[in-house]
Amino acid sequence: MTHVAVLPGDGIGPEVAAEAVRVLDVLEIEHSEHAFGGGAILAQGVPLPAETLAACRRADAVLLAAVGLPELEGQPVRPEQGLLELRKELGVYANLRPAAARAAGIDLVIVRELVGGLYFGARGTRDDGTWFDTCEYTRPEIERVAHRAFAIARERGGRLTSVDKVNVLHTSRLWRDVVTELGATQYPDVPLDHALVDSFAMTIVNAPGTIDVVVTENMFGDILSDVAAAVTGGLGLAASASLGDERPGLFEPVHGSAPQLAGQGTANPAAMLRSVALMLRHGLGRPAEATALEQAVDAALVEAPTPDLGGTATTREAGDAVLARIG
Ligand code: NAD
Ligand code: IPM
Ligand code: MN
Repeated sequence: MTHVAVLPGDGIGPEVAAEAVRVLDVLEIEHSEHAFGGGAILAQGVPLPAETLAACRRADAVLLAAVGLPELEGQPVRPEQGLLELRKELGVYANLRPAAARAAGIDLVIVRELVGGLYFGARGTRDDGTWFDTCEYTRPEIERVAHRAFAIARERGGRLTSVDKVNVLHTSRLWRDVVTELGATQYPDVPLDHALVDSFAMTIVNAPGTIDVVVTENMFGDILSDVAAAVTGGLGLAASASLGDERPGLFEPVHGSAPQLAGQGTANPAAMLRSVALMLRHGLGRPAEATALEQAVDAALVEAPTPDLGGTATTREAGDAVLARIG
């Protein structure tokens, strides 16, 4: 029996997760909810309780809404640490962040390295008062995420752009070498180019229709995926799939807990529901249901748009419009 661990988290997380749970019920997918993030810190002192991690490991897939509480920002123990720990523990090194607005000719996917780089390198404070974070990458860490990105580009009949900062960063020199080598030896049929992250951010804004598949390191991917979301309808729409070599994958919207929106019942559930679709496709091997759900979400965006899209629908009403099509 397929089982999904659901982590509603903080802020708008539980509001959008509730719509995802309704979809799981319609699809007759068994699920359980677990404490995670700021709520878990306040109740149990840690963002990723052992019980939650164990439930995630047992599950076929993990569905996370969002974490983050303003009162915990910058504190020694933070909700976001639980998310990084969960990604690391599950070994989900490839984070697929699609961004599409097909009517505008945009259909790109960012493959973000998720368990290395600046997020996981040595950090600390020296006696002289210097605070530091370190960006570190090994050849195998780059190779495995590049493999994923090349494979996706090949499957789409597309191209791959590798984004780095080779004009400044030491790790980017390794990144570019490894991606180039892998392309030449194993994916000669996939056109490859390289771009520097600063001007590539501009390309996402000015010419997103020219971009196909992108592979980049963790921090660059974090920033560029919010930019890509912004040019394709906003964070309310952007979903992601975080994959390792085996189950469970982790499926999560690109957005966070949006504290200013929390409690109003007006957050857009589309990013969350599209993450459910990515889970069906990449995590559970149910592509037909994934496509049906994506089409239902697309229709609901027109029928019942939430305020971020200029409409007046509530989170629940947008969820209703989706359920009406898949139920
Ligand atoms: P955010 O993504 O939470 O929100 C930024 C803005 O985007 C919001 O103010 C809102 O205008 C819009 N937005 C986001 N989701 C939306 C939705 N579903 N519907 C409509 N509008 C939406 O980013 P932030 O404000 O920088 O961060 C808030 C907190 O979330 C922080 O604590 C941060 O660490 C955390 N965070 C968590 C995750 C995650 O859990 N995966 C991701 C990003 C940020
Ligand atoms: C994201 C988020 C996270 C990240 C934070 C909350 C740790 O911004 O998933 O994009 O930086 O990876
Ligand atoms: Mn982010």
